[in-house]
Amino acid sequence: MRILVVGNGAREDALSWRLAQSPSCEAIFAAPGNAGTGSRGANWEISATDGKGLADRALREDIDLVVLGPETAIAAGVGDRLREAGITVFGPNRSAGRLESSKIFAKRFMERHGIPTAKAIVIHSLDAARSALSQWKGGVVVKADGLAAGKGVVIAPGPDVARAVVSDWYEGSRIPGGGLDLLLEEPIRGREVSVFAICDGRAIVPFAAACDYKRAGDGDSGPNTGGMGAYSPPNGFPDDLDDAVRERILAPLLRGLLAEGEEYVGVLYCGLMWNAAGPHVIEFNARFGDPETQVLVPRIGGDFAMLLHSAAQGAMDLSLATVSPQRCVGVVLATSDYPRSSTPLRGLDSDVSLPQGCQAFWGASTLADGTVSSGGGRVLTVTALGETLDEARSRAYESVKGLAGRLGSAALTYRTDIAAPATWQSERG
Ligand code: AMP
Ligand code: GLY
Repeated sequence: MRILVVGNGAREDALSWRLAQSPSCEAIFAAPGNAGTGSRGANWEISATDGKGLADRALREDIDLVVLGPETAIAAGVGDRLREAGITVFGPNRSAGRLESSKIFAKRFMERHGIPTAKAIVIHSLDAARSALSQWKGGVVVKADGLAAGKGVVIAPGPDVARAVVSDWYEGSRIPGGGLDLLLEEPIRGREVSVFAICDGRAIVPFAAACDYKRAGDGDSGPNTGGMGAYSPPNGFPDDLDDAVRERILAPLLRGLLAEGEEYVGVLYCGLMWNAAGPHVIEFNARFGDPETQVLVPRIGGDFAMLLHSAAQGAMDLSLATVSPQRCVGVVLATSDYPRSSTPLRGLDSDVSLPQGCQAFWGASTLADGTVSSGGGRVLTVTALGETLDEARSRAYESVKGLAGRLGSAALTYRTDIAAPATWQSERG
């Protein structure tokens, strides 16, 4: 198969790395790709949201499978354009992708179909927000409706802070992601886990799960980020995690999709909060997670490309790939100003090779004249496999220290507590 991965982050580097090793893969491409994807196949200079440009080139290049990485591509209707051109796509069309691109659509969908989630009210104006908050008791999660690259959620300890947030957003016309719509939601306590389910339009099955560290600093301090590290499989959750997700979330979700005429093809990321009452959906994403993908793919064996191809063709065959019981830990090396801003870095060593079982994936970057330029922000995700979580963590941190030195950039920083017992034992919310 000739495979195209759409996107340019470490998630796409990781997908391209694993897809390229699939027995059925003849050639791999990325658009626009990064320093990592460019080291194993051609990068096309086409934006991830340019559906027509991607469809034209994919037809010319005889692409057999397109894997959509980022939510922006899905929301821009890239899946729709490619399918109209007769190309096989792993990733939902724009309509089904509203499970991620509109938090209000997702919330109402969950309410209609009995999927456990936090209670929320939909708000379209500052007056409505103030009036709802005047009656509010306790914490408030304020969520902008649209895609906001991780900046659309504020967890307020009470209605006063929430009032200040919504006043600032409405009065400054700066609701993250644009628009005038938001949700005010009850906080749920528990432990977070991301479950990745594969859907072929007719069936949906949990495939693998991971835990992600969203805050910038150690001990979950500092602002929310796109994710500073992850590990897989999750630790300290009930053994029947998959069964509970299948029964309580995926079964009603699939019934709802079919009843509403939505055809979901791709991976569905279920962001869950787990407590004594079981799983509750915090958010759906219509794609693989970043950095979760970087810790999932090292565990995947068999023909991952054929698995995604079978799902994209409406007849998913899970036996085509395996997920090993090994543990994988991933640590993100980021510029120290992330997430406030991102300092571009130039002249980085392009050789980020690591010992067997360890792998580094480039974030948004370009390779020219043997060196890498990075836009800054999340520069690299460094991963390691191990038989135990402790072993995977120590190998990951050994590699991080080595690479940070080799890259020679003082601007790079990372969390030191990814997958540490103190972080996975604690309850949040
Ligand atoms: P999201 O961008 O929707 O993933 O939200 C960002 C983070 O906010 C999540 O990863 C959770 O840690 C937190 N969060 C969102 N909704 C809730 C909720 N209802 N209760 C508690 N935490 C939440
Ligand atoms: N790691 C969070 C996300 O991909 O949305």
